[in-house]
Amino acid sequence: MEKPDQFRELFRMQKALNERSRTRNTSEPSRDFHPMPPAKRTIRKRATRSPRRPLLWLVPARWRNELSRVLIPQPRIAARVRQLARQIESDFAGRDLVIVSLLNGTVLFLADLIRHFSLPLRLDFIGVSSYAARTTSDELVFTKELRLDVRGRDVLLVDDILDTGRTLKRVLEKLRRLRPRRVKVCVLLEKRARRVEKVRADYVGFAIPDLFVVGYGLDFAERYRNLPFVGVLRPQRGGGRNRDVR
Ligand code: XMP
Repeated sequence: MEKPDQFRELFRMQKALNERSRTRNTSEPSRDFHPMPPAKRTIRKRATRSPRRPLLWLVPARWRNELSRVLIPQPRIAARVRQLARQIESDFAGRDLVIVSLLNGTVLFLADLIRHFSLPLRLDFIGVSSYAARTTSDELVFTKELRLDVRGRDVLLVDDILDTGRTLKRVLEKLRRLRPRRVKVCVLLEKRARRVEKVRADYVGFAIPDLFVVGYGLDFAERYRNLPFVGVLRPQRGGGRNRDVR
């Protein structure tokens, strides 16, 4: 094609594009019109595109009034759970494992963890709760007892979060009275700053600061367990520091 012909062809294509954008379905937001002046538009664009705040760290709009931030996004949880599973599997290789999980906060963590295992295992639950009117994990009640026989067996005790350590101390005492061969403890989260009992976990997903967190199984008043990430509850919604809960 000759040069002038090329220009004519380009000119024709541009004209057709302009025409199409003018006659486009009006239910689509137009790209020609923007309600903000150009200066503001640039600022907004830069703020949302900052490499330090990728989308997975943003609290989804639905939860923005209740959560102040995402502490651990879903892909990081998934990667860490995979690592923990690999480590546990190699530590218990060749053994017949009994997993004892504490209700209800472990529900998501447990489900994700055990689907990585290929070793033979059995699963049981212990229900633990504090008296509704009281707030410290000192006053624990067992709402569900263990049904499986753990005598002489390898046990992996799974909990959502190791905080003061009172819950795990009580549960471990109870479990050890049943004479398992060995007990290892696996928790998704731990808050080292608040430990009052001498309890340690053998497998820890994430050590977190002293903040009240919800999501990925963890609740506040039985809410937020379904969130796929771990987030920080806003203080005015019941979050903050130094809560004694179960
Ligand atoms: P302790 O203090 O006995 O606490 O180690 C363990 C139990 O307390 C609950 N807990 C939390 N739950 N967000 C929660 O949703 C938190 O930040 C938090 N800290 C402690 C939890 O049930 C855990 O098993």
